[in-house]
Amino acid sequence: MKEQIEKIMAELSELKCQTEKEVEEARVRFLGKKGEITALFDEFRSVAPDMKREFGQRLNVLKKEAQARIEALKAAAQTSSTAAQSEDVTMPGDPLDLGSRHPVSIARQEIINIFRKFGYDVAEGPEIEDDYHVFEALNFPPNHPARDMQDTFFVSAGHPNPLLLRTHTSSVQVRTMEKMTPPIRVICPGRVFRNEAISARAHCIFHQVEGLYIDENVTFADLKQAILLFAREMFGADTQIRMRPSYFPFTEPSAEVDVSCNICHGKGCNICKGTGWLEILGCGMVDPNVLEASGIDSKKYSGFAFGMGVERIAMLKWQVNDLRHYFENDLRFLREFSTCVEV
Ligand code: PHE
Repeated sequence: MKEQIEKIMAELSELKCQTEKEVEEARVRFLGKKGEITALFDEFRSVAPDMKREFGQRLNVLKKEAQARIEALKAAAQTSSTAAQSEDVTMPGDPLDLGSRHPVSIARQEIINIFRKFGYDVAEGPEIEDDYHVFEALNFPPNHPARDMQDTFFVSAGHPNPLLLRTHTSSVQVRTMEKMTPPIRVICPGRVFRNEAISARAHCIFHQVEGLYIDENVTFADLKQAILLFAREMFGADTQIRMRPSYFPFTEPSAEVDVSCNICHGKGCNICKGTGWLEILGCGMVDPNVLEASGIDSKKYSGFAFGMGVERIAMLKWQVNDLRHYFENDLRFLREFSTCVEV
């Protein structure tokens, strides 16, 4: 019995437990109903009377030692498990996934910033417009094909002045001319809608920035200069422009503007389809009928207007080959622009 007491004493002093479960197992092993120490107390009954005193003392010491040891191990296991659960405040935090600006927003802001430097104000207007501000005041003849259901989303057709989703932000120019007297220098950024099949080159929703400049003696040379300066700010200082005659009901004369291809610098590549030129906008001198319709004296004042698609400008600037990328919110695409800062 003496040896057994010593053996258990030695085991107790070497006992190691990681978890509370292991401590409980040790308690059962030594002090449980069928535990090793409990068994020694049973054996104690058959110890010779003259030895009882000595063994009784030894057994009590052993039991106390076992209880103390188990208590100590239990406390240690509890502290380490709470430490594992609680947070380490010295750890670096989880990085927040910050969003970034959409390429269309970046391009739109860049266009606005350039024209702001030239002294243009920003004007905005409603996306749901009436026929008068989108077509009639802009000199669209009653049967002009652009009024056709093909291009325009009507909100309330059949009315003499139906409501529709604006197909261009020229409607904001009309509203500005109605409110202001020249000199007028505004740009009108905004979302526009056309009933077109969605493809790599067309979408039913896109963004425009249109511009209007009205004062005394404004000439086509002023228009050309404004567009050239804009193109150089947007696409680089060595950018060239060329103007091709075109037609818009609200401008006369009208032109379409190309910039020299910023990828091959005019040599010809697959972006410019070998021509060396990329179309960027439509423009022209405001038709006197348009000025008069909005109460501006066309004998005293003249002006120019221009309009461009923001998606198109962004496509040319960053070589985006499919318009649909702008609307799909694929993070791989959007992240390409996360470090872009507009000029
Ligand atoms: N409003 C025209 C369009 O949406 C663009 C334009 C604006 C053309 C001003 C000439 C002058 O296509």
